[in-house]
Amino acid sequence: MAKIPLFHTRRLLLGLTGSVAAYKAAEIARLLMQENVDVQPVMTESACRFVGPATLQALTGKTVFTDLWDNRIANNMAHINISRDVDVILIAPASADFIAKLANGFANDLLSTLCLARDCPLIIVPAMNRQMWENPATQRNLAILQRDGVTIFGPVHGTQACGETGMGRMLEVQELVKTVQTFFQPKLLQNKRVLITAGPTYEAIDAVRGITNLSSGKMGYAVTRAALEAGAKVTLISGPVCLKAPFEATLVNVISAQDMLAAVRKEISRTDIFISVAAVADYLPTKINKQKIKKIGGNLLLKLVPNPDILEYAAGISKPPFCVGFAAETENLEKNAETKRRRKKIPLLAANLAQDAISSDESALILLDDKGKHLLPKAPKIVQARHLIKHISLLYKK
Ligand code: C5P
Repeated sequence: MAKIPLFHTRRLLLGLTGSVAAYKAAEIARLLMQENVDVQPVMTESACRFVGPATLQALTGKTVFTDLWDNRIANNMAHINISRDVDVILIAPASADFIAKLANGFANDLLSTLCLARDCPLIIVPAMNRQMWENPATQRNLAILQRDGVTIFGPVHGTQACGETGMGRMLEVQELVKTVQTFFQPKLLQNKRVLITAGPTYEAIDAVRGITNLSSGKMGYAVTRAALEAGAKVTLISGPVCLKAPFEATLVNVISAQDMLAAVRKEISRTDIFISVAAVADYLPTKINKQKIKKIGGNLLLKLVPNPDILEYAAGISKPPFCVGFAAETENLEKNAETKRRRKKIPLLAANLAQDAISSDESALILLDDKGKHLLPKAPKIVQARHLIKHISLLYKK
């Protein structure tokens, strides 16, 4: 039985420059570390005026380097050694002055020298007053950096520390951390068109009542994020949930299984990979009462008929996409799930115990394919989703 290992720790050099947004770098460091990223801070002299190195040191547990001439580095080559140990350099915030330095290849402090002497990707996250941002000199410098292969995240439009409103506000910390995670993921599904269903469906009984289930949509939304991280173009067809869809996905909101089927039908011919995560209601009432059904005293009989099976439909069309199913079982997990996989004629199915997975932020999965089973021990759903995408990319290529 194959155990799939977790992704390894990423090492990141976090460079802070002189912008008031430097105070947010403490939160960036903290959130990145929660995502298993090893953070090494380096600060410019101006950054130290906005936030103390002690803050970054305490949060990351690392010596914060600020000086090109730091003689704690044995061979006095701080500008080379520090960047050799990292997978990426992230400059957040990147001031207009620092961007100008980078664009012109200056190396007159530790951070700019590290950037010039690097052999890893460089990401900058600009933060500045709107007029500094709009100034042709800044725009010219950014165009040069883009041509040089530097990745630029943000900025966004919004309120600024100076009291003005406009372009130049640093990308929000949460968004930035997600974007960095995306940057780290291997582009296993680059430009593949992936269709995902997520959440429960709601089958109306009358004007105010319906049949639904406890699915939160968390797994489907995590799979959506993981597919986006892998470079896919994602359409997410979602039943009613309380989650925010990633803005890079095309979101189609649906209520009932029949709505979901109609939305899938519309997309399926231009889909490479269909991942059916939705907990589709198996039955729907034969008729929907337009008015609220009155209490009649005795028993009330509801007549239900089966819903269409969306996954079976997708797997059964003449040129089907690569189809992936999910099975939430309450007993005999493996046996029931494998029977389901064969019945639905799909190459891959992810099985989990309904009582453990529903509404939870974590799950344990068993991936079932023609070769057998692959265990994914309990982990956050985003981690499981990344494993699933990796597994799909291996099978899809064959
Ligand atoms: O409900 P069941 O256990 O059969 O669900 C297994 C898989 O089939 C899931 O991937 C689910 O999204 C899909 N399904 C579907 N349409 C249904 C019922 C289930 O696409 N009506």
